[in-house]
Amino acid sequence: MKRLFFSAILVSVLCFGADLAPTPPMGWNSWNKFGDKIDDKTVREIADAIVSSGMKDAGYVYVNIDDTWEGTRDAQGNIQANSKFPDMKALADYVHSKGLKIGIYSSPGPKTCADYEGSYQHEAQDAKTWAAWGIDYLKYDWCSADKVYQASEMQAVYKKMGDALQATGRPIVFSLCQYGLQNVWQWGASAGGNLWRTTGDIQDSWKSMSTIGFDKQSGHEQYAGPNHWNDPDMLEIGNGGMTAPEYRTHLSLWAMLAAPLLAGNDVRSMTDETKQILTNKDVIAIDQDPLGRQGFRVSKDAGAEIWVKPLENGDLAVALFNRTDRMTNVTAYWEIVGIKGKHKVRDLWLHADMGSFRDAYSAEVPAHGVTLLRVAR
Ligand code: GLA
Repeated sequence: MKRLFFSAILVSVLCFGADLAPTPPMGWNSWNKFGDKIDDKTVREIADAIVSSGMKDAGYVYVNIDDTWEGTRDAQGNIQANSKFPDMKALADYVHSKGLKIGIYSSPGPKTCADYEGSYQHEAQDAKTWAAWGIDYLKYDWCSADKVYQASEMQAVYKKMGDALQATGRPIVFSLCQYGLQNVWQWGASAGGNLWRTTGDIQDSWKSMSTIGFDKQSGHEQYAGPNHWNDPDMLEIGNGGMTAPEYRTHLSLWAMLAAPLLAGNDVRSMTDETKQILTNKDVIAIDQDPLGRQGFRVSKDAGAEIWVKPLENGDLAVALFNRTDRMTNVTAYWEIVGIKGKHKVRDLWLHADMGSFRDAYSAEVPAHGVTLLRVAR
């Protein structure tokens, strides 16, 4: 048994790179809220706020700088940060001193999506620079790469950076961002990827979030697991475009999908309500369950959807989603969920044990809302 366990670990290390993301990565990314208005000072303040708000304790550890940090290359071709980031090494040291990790962003093309310097023809050199700065996570965004590569070269292009990161000897999580092109879920892990975007960019709206989360992830669940995750894009919770029930649905759905949880809000000034949503440890435990199974839909009926995610201890996460515009009574029948008899139920948003239920569980679910359950085996 023990030998089987260690060979399973060995196989997963050989196939999926080092054990860098045994559960979906959690942290924060600058893009959704700040776009190009991100600089050294803001990143430091966000790192402080991640610690003081309890986000770090809830599991959010990566502080990721997205596009627009890039400057010009020096005479030797080394990438330098622009004037918004005077000293990347010092910034990385600061973030590390808080017990957090730091991420950065680039493109395999000559230019990033926001038209800053990309890594084209400097892949190994850039990987070394980031490792020397102390970077722990790279988001690598296709952007202008289609100007210099054929789509058929995409896998090799990503593997080139995957290999370059590995060659640095520093553990760096590798996040592929190419919007789900070329069925990335089928080859992302073999390119060294720990996660890969499955769709285009999320927006802070119910339509965008629900379409990505409910309608565009099904069928990819077989490709997710420890160290290699489907990424439905970063969180919009707290950015103002959705209601609290919608943001609860956002976190619940991402947890059911075993998605990376990268907060995208201004953590320095978030409301208590936003904090309560983002730091719900019961929900985060579903996302971070060590079994690493991505959940799936088991029924869909006029806007009511039931999703199930098997958990390591044999429990099931069961989500009762209401996609309609009015309060709806939603029932999860145990038969559809895949269990029989009487089971203890905990409501993960009420933080309450609801008792034992035979055959089914019903709840009044608000418009665009969710009742998320942990059902004991
Ligand atoms: C693309 C990505 C986004 C973000 C921007 C930055 O659109 O999908 O997540 O990184 O580029 O320019």
